[in-house]
Amino acid sequence: MADQDTRTPVGIEPPALSVLRWDELPEGPAVVLLDQTRLPSEEVELICADVPALVRAIQTLAVRGAPLLGIAGGYGVALAAARGEDAARAADLLEQARPTAVNLGYGARRVERTHRAAVDGGAPADVAAAAALAEARTLHRQDAEASGRMAQYGLELLAELLPGAGHRLLTHCNTGALVSGGAGTAFAVALEAHRRGRLHHLWVDETRPLLQGARLTAYEAARNGMPYSLLTDSAAGSLFAAGEVDAVLIGADRIAADGSVANKVGSYPLAVLAKYHHVPFIVVAPTTTVDPKTMDGTSIVVEQRSASEVTEVTSRPGVAAGGEGGRTVVAPPGTQAYNPAFDITPPELVTAIVTEEGVISPVTGVGLAELCARSSQV
Ligand code: MRU
Repeated sequence: MADQDTRTPVGIEPPALSVLRWDELPEGPAVVLLDQTRLPSEEVELICADVPALVRAIQTLAVRGAPLLGIAGGYGVALAAARGEDAARAADLLEQARPTAVNLGYGARRVERTHRAAVDGGAPADVAAAAALAEARTLHRQDAEASGRMAQYGLELLAELLPGAGHRLLTHCNTGALVSGGAGTAFAVALEAHRRGRLHHLWVDETRPLLQGARLTAYEAARNGMPYSLLTDSAAGSLFAAGEVDAVLIGADRIAADGSVANKVGSYPLAVLAKYHHVPFIVVAPTTTVDPKTMDGTSIVVEQRSASEVTEVTSRPGVAAGGEGGRTVVAPPGTQAYNPAFDITPPELVTAIVTEEGVISPVTGVGLAELCARSSQV
């Protein structure tokens, strides 16, 4: 269980099982994941002993969420190197597994660069593989540390923006310990508020179609004893209208150079609602989620997923209709579906972006670039 200590910052309770760890099994090295498709009903580990298995786990969302995808990408390249396989090819396969979360390519490329530098410097294969693994572990640890700092900055920002003692926070998708080396991004801020007695209520969007809110955020909120309620995504409007939301906290999968934010589909409508109701809309993400090469929101590639995720309902994403987990078809045969996994929120709708290096508000490309220049993450 080599990575357990790197995953959990001080004061944050670990989940029962490690969310992601490197293991040396008798059969060989492996990336071992908490299979998120089985939560909340079962806590089951998924052993990925090679890169294709890890790519499948990424595509079926057994492992998901931007920061954790970066960590998975890094360990995936280390796994290829440990198996004597082509690390550059592994980085390509991993980066292409899902297109929107920039962290996936970041993690894979970062570890691949370390491996290549070792090889180019004349290191034998086992030494180069060890260097790749060490870099993946460093990335894992840095993400855990970033999580703790984002929680602090986020909490300070909430105190500044919200005069009342108890915050009523709305969140979308899942951004907690299940997506990170630490306590997560947006959820980590809510959790910190809870620990300091400053969370009045957490509103959890169910997050159709794959229910990351219902299955995963509610699971994390319950485990941490937080006061929370689940709502359908379409109920958010009436909740704002009733004056029940003090701030929206979300994560990000990619932040373009101009501050446009790609996050789970349904984030943009929340930003519009927040603007109309004069409620702060706060994005919490590590600097590794900022992509200076993507100039603006229109340049972000949004993953389009299968129609069946909309035309069928399931408690287990990634499992075919009729399979274990009970998918039920809810639309007539042949129904087409529009199923983008993410949407883009323009910077003018974002009150603030919280990173491990600090907060920018208002959100501008220049402010974002200055903040990222401080980042120690390469
Ligand atoms: O499709 P998913 O479940 O990987 O999408 C995850 C999200 O959209 C999260 O909000 C995002 O990665 C930020 S997590 C810190």
